Amino acid sequence: MDMLAALRLQMEWGADEALDDQPVDRLAPASRAAAPRTAAPAEPARPAGPVARAQAAAEGANTLESLYRTLAGYRECALSATATRLAVADGNPRAGLVLVGEVPGAEEDLEGRPFAGPAGVLLDRMLASIGLTRQDLLLVNMVPWRPPGGRAPSEAEVQICTPFLWRHLTLLRPHTIVALGALPARALANRNETIRRLRGRWQAVSVPGLPAPIPALATFNPAYILRTPAAKKEAWADFVALRRHLDAGMKANGAPV
Ligand code: URA
Repeated sequence: MDMLAALRLQMEWGADEALDDQPVDRLAPASRAAAPRTAAPAEPARPAGPVARAQAAAEGANTLESLYRTLAGYRECALSATATRLAVADGNPRAGLVLVGEVPGAEEDLEGRPFAGPAGVLLDRMLASIGLTRQDLLLVNMVPWRPPGGRAPSEAEVQICTPFLWRHLTLLRPHTIVALGALPARALANRNETIRRLRGRWQAVSVPGLPAPIPALATFNPAYILRTPAAKKEAWADFVALRRHLDAGMKANGAPV
């Protein structure tokens, strides 16, 4: 009750926004200690803020293996402490087609790979309907750690994970990207719109370090389709558009998709 009263008081005083994803105890002795008189030994400069540090960590990875190693040891996103396993990628990293999901569910958290549960079963059926298997593409997750209890990730958590997604795409050098759901669709479009508005449209996405923009299509996440069967019709139209796009690329380049 005391905590609730304190929270209410803060809200009345206008503190209605979290600035960090972890509370800071400013009454703890360490933060009250007087500033040291002598200069502390010089430490290497650490980028300020969790997103800048995530960016630096992501950019330090020059191979997929080192990106996955960095993520496996990354503790600055609070989700890494509660998730069982990292569910960051599944499929064929050399395929050139990358599908970006949102967050792992319970099965993904246990198995350590994206789309291991019922949404993955539906996704496999949708892929099969346009002649694709997981060997024809790589599935990655925008947020690779399952939020506790399956809650939605916070804005701060998504922001920390975003530099890793961009680095992942830079290292994969895809010819085509598909965003499965609002989180990756917003990150790729850099627009805060609903998935209903973003889906079904192709756009050219500039991936840092790649010489030309990559065609990207947004559609619904299969987990959403399981909850909202009426979305199947539009998702099917998007998958047909993806098949046509791949066929056109195959005609132009002889690419084996
Ligand atoms: N499972 C995943 O791994 N990602 C999603 O986006 C949905 C289900």
